[in-house]
Amino acid sequence: MKKNILLCVSGGIAVYKAVALVSKLTQAHFNVKVIMTASARQFVNPLSFQVMSKNDVFFDTFDEKDSQVIAHIDLADWADLIVVAPATANVIGKLANGIADDMVTTTLLAATAPVWLAPAMNVHMYDHPAVKRNIATLHADGYRFIEPSEGYLACGYVGKGRLEEPEKITDLVVQHFMPKAQPLKGKKVIVSAGPTRERVDPVRFMTNFSTGKMGYAMAEAARDLGADVVLVSGPTNLPKPTGMQVIDVESAQNMFDAIWAQYNQADIVIKTAAVADYRPKNVHGQKMKKQPGDTAIELERTTDILATLGQHKEHQLLIGFAAETNDVESYGTQKLTKKNADYIIANDVTEAGSGFGTDTNSVLLIGKEFTQKFAHLPKTELAIQLLETIAEREGL
Ligand code: CTP
Repeated sequence: MKKNILLCVSGGIAVYKAVALVSKLTQAHFNVKVIMTASARQFVNPLSFQVMSKNDVFFDTFDEKDSQVIAHIDLADWADLIVVAPATANVIGKLANGIADDMVTTTLLAATAPVWLAPAMNVHMYDHPAVKRNIATLHADGYRFIEPSEGYLACGYVGKGRLEEPEKITDLVVQHFMPKAQPLKGKKVIVSAGPTRERVDPVRFMTNFSTGKMGYAMAEAARDLGADVVLVSGPTNLPKPTGMQVIDVESAQNMFDAIWAQYNQADIVIKTAAVADYRPKNVHGQKMKKQPGDTAIELERTTDILATLGQHKEHQLLIGFAAETNDVESYGTQKLTKKNADYIIANDVTEAGSGFGTDTNSVLLIGKEFTQKFAHLPKTELAIQLLETIAEREGL
């Protein structure tokens, strides 16, 4: 059956590309309906969207075309997927703050379908702290972004802010609806994610920059490929994923204990977590008071969880990560052997759009006598591709 795509168009010069997007989506056999903001109508007449979509175009919350339904609720319910393209700084700001003052924003608040936003704006606007904050809020609320590409912008600047090409957005929509094979069905997969915290005293701890995004994406990908997933998570600010068991842990030792307890039953262990290699040797029971002069905290090694799992490996498939700042392939390969892992997913955390806190990543998948590069993919998409590649190589 044809899927229903609701396209919300907000006002920027890229509105003309949204017309092409409707054309591509209808050619790809989707039903498309369009809502426009008042600003969008300053750029393109609704008639263009009506002709392309072969449906009425909506823009006025109070202009009810059908007395049997309330249009913004009806449209929200009708959609299998909502795409906001172009998404201006204004519409992003409104959605991040729950403002519903026109047809687009009221419909977005009423929506239960996934909502994707494809921003398009001037490079400095895209970089503005308020816009970044709003995008981060929407990410945390579960919205997906189709990142703008870099290039010549209508304002004359060259930079990031161009609406992603209609062909590319259409490809993503097509992929989204493609039935996924479930190669991990019946497999128990343990995924570790996020940083660990090693306490110094009751008010201080040592940690690292891991946000847990890649680990959570791996856990969700494993779930979507059919696995029974246990996510062992260090402290993160991410919403808890659904459809899996989540165990919250704090220190490297807690993480080890949680994984070890289920290791025998596991088929696959994915160690995405950025585990502390050292912890303070003495954890002070009371807050450490400052003293004149310098001080030092004596550190001791934590358990290398992946290496320990590698030593006791029986039937399990072990997948480790390696965060590197240089010589990625050679360090990744060394970790594969040293930790007796089956695969290492290595990334250069200094590369733009890669590593801690970003939504995209570029990695090398390193196996025994095998290396494959995956470049500049959203972490969610990358996670699926990595697990599908591994499942295929392992004959799952
Ligand atoms: N790892 C682990 N336990 C540790 C340290 C790391 O299980 N105490 C795992 C990580 O989860 C990851 C892999 O080992 O899957 C590599 O982690 P990384 O921090 O890149 O490597 P290290 O072993 O810490 O090596 P180095 O400090 O030399 O980079």
